[in-house]
Amino acid sequence: MYATRVSLSSKLPITKQVSAQLSRVAAAHYAFPTCTASALQHASVTTPSPRREFSSTSRASLREFFPEPEHNHAIRRTDTAWPHPEFSAEDMQKKIFFAHRDPKDLSDRFALFMVRFLRWGTDLATGYKHNVESPKTVSDSNAVAGTKAYGMSESKWLVRFIFLESVAGVPGMVAGMLRHLHSLRRMKRDNGWIETLLEEAYNERMHLLTFLKMAEPGWFMRFMILGAQGVFFNGMFLSYLVSPRTCHRFVGYLEEEAVLTYTLAIQDVESGKLPKWSDPNFRVPDLAVKYWNMPEGSRTMRDLLLYIRADEAKHREVNHTLGNLDQKVDPNPFVSSYKDETKPHPSKGIEHTKPTGWEREDVI
Ligand SMILES: [Fe+2]
Ligand SMILES: [Fe+2]
Repeated sequence: MYATRVSLSSKLPITKQVSAQLSRVAAAHYAFPTCTASALQHASVTTPSPRREFSSTSRASLREFFPEPEHNHAIRRTDTAWPHPEFSAEDMQKKIFFAHRDPKDLSDRFALFMVRFLRWGTDLATGYKHNVESPKTVSDSNAVAGTKAYGMSESKWLVRFIFLESVAGVPGMVAGMLRHLHSLRRMKRDNGWIETLLEEAYNERMHLLTFLKMAEPGWFMRFMILGAQGVFFNGMFLSYLVSPRTCHRFVGYLEEEAVLTYTLAIQDVESGKLPKWSDPNFRVPDLAVKYWNMPEGSRTMRDLLLYIRADEAKHREVNHTLGNLDQKVDPNPFVSSYKDETKPHPSKGIEHTKPTGWEREDVI
C-alpha cells in the first residue's frame, strides 16, 4: 500500500519535496481528518493516503485538485461575480421535491424521449442501480420504473454526480452563447435571458468542482467526460439553432432527473446507507461552504446535497418556463420586476417555485 512518510523531527529546511509531502498529508487530512490528526502527533509518521473514490490514475500521482493559487501580488481573494442566492434550510426541504411535467406536444415528447434515452445510457455507463421507493407517489411511473436491488455506494454516487455535472454545465453555456451571438449579429435585444443561462452553466460547474474535491477521476473517466462533452456540446449547439424551445424543454426534463437523483442520494444518506457521508467527521469542501454560504452546523453531506438539489430544481423551473415562452420576444421572467410585486412571480430564489415551470400567461 502506498504510504507517505513525513519526518517532522528533521532540522532540515523544508524543501520542495517535503512541502509536496506535507501537502499530500494535508490532502489526506482533508478527506480523513481524524486519521491524520492523530498521525501527525508523532514525530515520524506513516500516513495512509486517502483512498480515492474512483480512479485509474496511479496513487503516486495523487494531488490536490485545483489548489488555491498562491498570490504574491496585490490580490487578496477572488470572489464570484455570481453570488449564490440564499436558500433557507426549511424551503429546501419543504419546497423542493421530484415533479414531472406532462409533455403537451410533439416537441415536448421528443425532448422527454431524448432525456430518457440519455438516462438509460448514463445508467449503463455509471453502473447505476437503485431501489427507488418513495418518489413513486409524486413522479410519473417511468421515472422510477424498474426498481432494482440496492447497489449504490459513496463512490458510485460520485461517479454519477461527476459525470452528470460535467454534462449539465453545457446547455446553459451553449444557449447563452447562441443568444449572445444572435443579439450581436441581428442587432436585437436579448431581453435578459443570457445572464440567467450563463449563470446556470456557472452553477453547474460549481457542482462539478465540489464533487471533484471529493474524488479525482482517472484516465478512463476523463476519457468518458471528454467524449460526452464532444458529442453533447455539438448536439446541443445544432439543436439550439433548430429549436431553442425544445432544447429548454429537454433541459427541464434533464433537471427533473437531476432532482430525482439527488433526492435518492439524500434518502440514502438519511437512512444510513452511506456511512462515510453520514460520519460526523466528514467535511464538505471549503469551496462549497463559501459558494453556498453554508451556515455553521449545517455543513454535512446531506446539507450539501440539499443545496445542489435545490439548484437543480431551480434549473428545472427556469428551463420549463423558458420552454413555455416566445423565444424571440418574451423577457426573462426570472430577472424581471412585476407591476404587482405582492403576487408570487418567478425569481432567483426558491420562495415561490413552480416545479413544472410557469405558464406564459401567468408571467408575461
Ligand atoms: Fe448540477
Ligand atoms: Fe442542473
